[in-house]
Parts: sequence; C-alpha cells; structure tokens
Amino acid sequence: MIPNSYKHTPVLLQEVLEYLQPKVGEVFIDATLGGGGYTEALLGAVASTGKVLSLDLDIDAIRAFKLKPQTSNLKPVLVQGNFKDIASIAQANGFSKVNGVVADIGLSSYELDDAGRGISFKHDEPLDMRFDASVANPTAADLLAFKSEVELTKLFTEYGEERYSRSIARNIVRKRTEEAVTRTTQLVDIITNSLPRAVRHKAQDSCRRIFQALRIAVNGELENLRQFLPDALGLLAPGGRLVVVVFHSLEDRIVKQFFVQAATGCVCPANFPHCVCGKTPQVQILTRRPVSAGEAELAQNSRSRPAKLRAVLKL
Ligand SMILES: C[S@@+](CC[C@H](N)C(=O)[O-])C[C@H]1O[C@@H](n2cnc3c(N)ncnc32)[C@H](O)[C@@H]1O
Repeated sequence: MIPNSYKHTPVLLQEVLEYLQPKVGEVFIDATLGGGGYTEALLGAVASTGKVLSLDLDIDAIRAFKLKPQTSNLKPVLVQGNFKDIASIAQANGFSKVNGVVADIGLSSYELDDAGRGISFKHDEPLDMRFDASVANPTAADLLAFKSEVELTKLFTEYGEERYSRSIARNIVRKRTEEAVTRTTQLVDIITNSLPRAVRHKAQDSCRRIFQALRIAVNGELENLRQFLPDALGLLAPGGRLVVVVFHSLEDRIVKQFFVQAATGCVCPANFPHCVCGKTPQVQILTRRPVSAGEAELAQNSRSRPAKLRAVLKL
C-alpha cells in the first residue's frame, strides 16, 4: 500500500459541478472520494462556511487524501465506509438535509493499476479484488475456489455479459482440482484457453469482462448501489441534487430505473375517478439522456469513455 502514489483523474468533473451547482455555504456528500477530485472542487465552491462529507470504502483513498497538499482551507469530514450505509454515516457526522450528493461508482486508477489486488488482468497479482480488505469478506480467489460451475457461469453471464461463460466456468472448476486458482495470470490463461481458437485474438475482451464480473460480485457492487440510491435521496433537502456517474450498463439500468420510478407520480389506473395510490413524484429528472464525456475529455483520459452521468432534483 503506497497511498502517496495514489492517482486518479476525475471523470466528468465539469458536468458533475454543472448538475450539482454548489454554492458558498452549502452542504454536500461525496460518496466516493477516490483521488478526491470531486471533493476538492466541492470544498472550493462551498468555501469556509460550507461542509463536505467524503467517504470511501478503500482506506488507501482516505489516507492518500490526508497526505495530499490541500487546495482549500476547508477540510472535508473523511469517513472510511460503504455508501450503502450513507444514511447512518451522514447522521453520525451531523449531515442531514444536504444540498447535494454525488457518487462516482466504480474504481480508481490506483485500485486498477497500483493497489496489487488483482483487479486488472494486466498485472500478475493475487486475486483479491476487495475495495475494503479490512473485512473478512471472500476474495475473488475464494469465489473461484468455492462456487459451483453453474454459479460461476451465472456470475460471468449476469455481471460480465460474457458469451463463453460456460466453458470458462467449466475450465476453472477443472483446473482447481489440480491447483488453486489464486493469481491473475492463472485466470487469464484459463479464460484464453476456454475461447474458440477463432476468437482468441480477442481474449483481452473476455478477460476484462470476467475480471469485472468477479469484482462486482466480490464487492457486492450492485446491491450497494440499490441500497444507496433511496437513502441518498432521503438525505436531500428540497431542491437538492443527486448526481451519479456509472461505468457499467447494469449499474446504469439500476440508476435509470430508480430515477424514473422516483419521478413518477400517481400510478392509479387511468379509469379511476381520483387517485387512491397517493404516490407523488419525489424528483425531477435533470438528464433525459445520460451525459457522456466530450471529445476533449476523451482525448485526455480514455478511461472516461464508458462513464455515464444521470442527475435528479429533489422536489
Ligand atoms: C471512480 S473512484 C472515485 C473518483 C473520484 N470521484 C475522484 O474525483 O477522484 C471510485 C471510488 O469509489 C470507491 N468505492 C467503491 N465502492 C464503494 C462503496 N460501496 N462505498 C464507498 N466507496 C466505494 C472506490 O474505492 C473508489 O475509490
């Protein structure tokens, strides 16, 4: 762990600020500190009379931020925690009825390239993949050791949308009878050898999808997001804004469906003379379509390509 080598270029930063509209004296929560790009911009905007609470599951992000030269006189309240617990974390730190919450769901460049946790298939590392190694949750190697062939196939299909999930799962189960699959290079070999010869030149795409699927499962990423969204909305003052940036189509679907449902009013059948469901819209959707990185950002940072931003205003 080398927190002072922590690196991450914030994605869609200008767009995040455009949708959050932070002003002097306001109160914000950055649910995913990472390299601190959003947090620093929020601290600058709310100035000394505002407040910012920033969390990250990864203690390295918190440590690295504390070591960084500060760009603002205001310090954020820093908490190592899971954004699925945002309601209790906010309450414990005196944050309620905030002006905005932002979450940049995914992983930092540090976690991908330097943390040594086997998140990238490009480095020979142990297959850990946990964002928070302080809890005794199963690692990626544990999932490969204990899940059945059927369970692995399902995991790779649902979270990785990988066409060759079945043969990859079958070969993992076969390989583990000879030796434990604990390193990224072993998994890359299994994936590559599971593909038909004609598509082996595209093995990197399959590796990316399988590694992503394992990471999502290890960290419970979709469950975290599902739990986070309603609680983040609950923390907003009327007129407050929730901005979410995602990098995966499954996450984007969860955010989109949640926002549509929160923006929907009465759901009574059209032939009812008056409303009996009592449902009123909680939010106004600010992004009819997801916002993506523009050409200038893409030229600077190719990792911004899959990013999609959606935002709502609390009514
Ligand atoms: C893409 S980075 C955030 C980058 C940040 N916006 C910036 O400007 O540098 C995503 C961060 O979210 C963290 N993270 C992932 N899942 C989390 C969770 N459930 N709760 C809190 N943080 C989480 C990761 O550890 C990572 O540091």
